[in-house]
Amino acid sequence: MTTFEPLGTKDLLRIGDLAAHEVHQLLASAAALKADPSQGAGALAGRSVCMLFEKPSLRTRTSFEVGIFRLGGQAIVLDHQSSPIGERESIADCARNFERWCHAIVARVMRHSTVEALAAAARIPVINALCDRHHPCQALADFQTLLERGFDLRHDRLAWIGDGNNVCHSLMEMASILGCGMTVITPEGLEPDPAIRAQCIARAMRTGARLDVTNDPAAVRGAFAVYADAWVSMGQEGAGAAEKKARFARYQVNRALMAAAGPDARFMHCLPAHRGEEVTDDVMDSPASVVFDQAENRMHAQNALLCHLLQPAPALATR
Ligand code: CP
Ligand code: NVA
Repeated sequence: MTTFEPLGTKDLLRIGDLAAHEVHQLLASAAALKADPSQGAGALAGRSVCMLFEKPSLRTRTSFEVGIFRLGGQAIVLDHQSSPIGERESIADCARNFERWCHAIVARVMRHSTVEALAAAARIPVINALCDRHHPCQALADFQTLLERGFDLRHDRLAWIGDGNNVCHSLMEMASILGCGMTVITPEGLEPDPAIRAQCIARAMRTGARLDVTNDPAAVRGAFAVYADAWVSMGQEGAGAAEKKARFARYQVNRALMAAAGPDARFMHCLPAHRGEEVTDDVMDSPASVVFDQAENRMHAQNALLCHLLQPAPALATR
């Protein structure tokens, strides 16, 4: 069985927790595990991973469960109905229970502060499986997909078009760490969080990344890939959703926008896609679309992450 280098971080709460060499290592391991799954066989033998979901999921839940199975481990899923995090007991007390049985926690939560509280209390790794501010597993899978398609970190550029929130932030962190180009295109008032943007720009100055933020959809021109996300994220579906959608009228990824990007531009989406809103059927179903490769790569990227984070094998916190 392959050995995986330990990471310098106990947890993965955001891509910015990783050093550049660790991102490269994870991407290389993800590609290796995809090419030869036997490299991960038994990597999680005898280990259990607890998965907490405060929000719905199709890809994250399935890709982690199948991935953990393929690594020889056990996944335990707790959803918000059966075991709401921080309601029956404190978040820290939840963490202090899990670490007695499980070797890692995967958590999809409303607020970033929840994964921070789990990580602070637990002596086992905590993986952020999406919160309001970050989606690091998605960004790892997306860069695996970009590299598979020939993305050149020195010369190519990714264009984001949509809300400047969780997935966008994680892609910005990846781009700024890897030193590549990214153009973030959002409606006015939906730009990325100013603090995350400032951190990425400061990092970009060191790595040579080109990071632009604009409200102009024409900025897709020349991008290697155009990336869309839901106009209304999970948890925002209530009051104000219709008004929010109206602000995206100029930002739909349709045939004309893809033509403006260029004849070779790929289409990316974290999914779930809202056909007829942020993307049209003809783009989703076109040869330019790599969305299901991204979905597949969630499993390979997460398995790489689990293999590296769980090195050396963390002892259970039994006293
Ligand atoms: N992209 C993604 O995280 O999908 P799910 O919400 O289905 O997990
Ligand atoms: N921005 C979206 C991403 C879904 C994977 C959301 O938070 O719902």
